[in-house]
Amino acid sequence: MTAGDLFAHNFFRAKEGDELDEFRGYREVHLEAGYEGFVDHEVDQWENFYAERRNWPCLPDGVVRLGEQLSELGVVVLRSVLRHAAVPEGDWPKVTGGVTEGLGHHMLGFNHFRPEKPVRGAKFHRDSGWVTLVRATDPGLVCLVGDRMFRASTPPGHLVVNFGSSMEVLTQQLQRRVHAVVHGVARTERRPGARHRTSYVLFLDSDLRAAIYRYDDEGVAHRVARRGSAKEAARVLARPVHSSES
Ligand SMILES: [Fe+2]
Repeated sequence: MTAGDLFAHNFFRAKEGDELDEFRGYREVHLEAGYEGFVDHEVDQWENFYAERRNWPCLPDGVVRLGEQLSELGVVVLRSVLRHAAVPEGDWPKVTGGVTEGLGHHMLGFNHFRPEKPVRGAKFHRDSGWVTLVRATDPGLVCLVGDRMFRASTPPGHLVVNFGSSMEVLTQQLQRRVHAVVHGVARTERRPGARHRTSYVLFLDSDLRAAIYRYDDEGVAHRVARRGSAKEAARVLARPVHSSES
């Protein structure tokens, strides 16, 4: 994870003329898609850099290799969890928009939390899509399970795995449901000069043209919406469940 860790600690800094410069200067990197590249979340401590797989050539080589490994691992997790939820294997390519076959959106996101801002770390939200792998070695990640708030502990050498709205919608009426847990980041404080909190993620999501599916309690997959946007799955989640819906 070394290259990813270095990138997370440096992407937001200006170049300084030394060997770490390949990891710096990404505040100025603009990618063609509106939601990629550098994002300053004005009301949060959070600032970040997003790059979908087709834009990984803009990243340092070691970060690209890490992204490819995380992608492979994310697909393994997705396939394992679909098997656990008893989703028929023959349906996987259709209901995930090909993500089980390595297609779809594979997005790296690098996060830096600015301790000088006296505000929350990052807002509460559900991830969209299927699987998020999170590298977070510093405390701060909090999640809501039922009506209780928990700190997510991240032992050394481990990744956090989050599931997204598409996964929750798909499995909502199956015996083994997979929840898209609501989570956020608490405010972090640091003494001047101390290492800042950073983290990074790999998101696996269907591409925007793929449909969202939900199984009924007889194991039949129904198309419930067009993907369209990250908000779409959240909208579907908010609607009451009827097994006749198609
Ligand atoms: Fe998230």
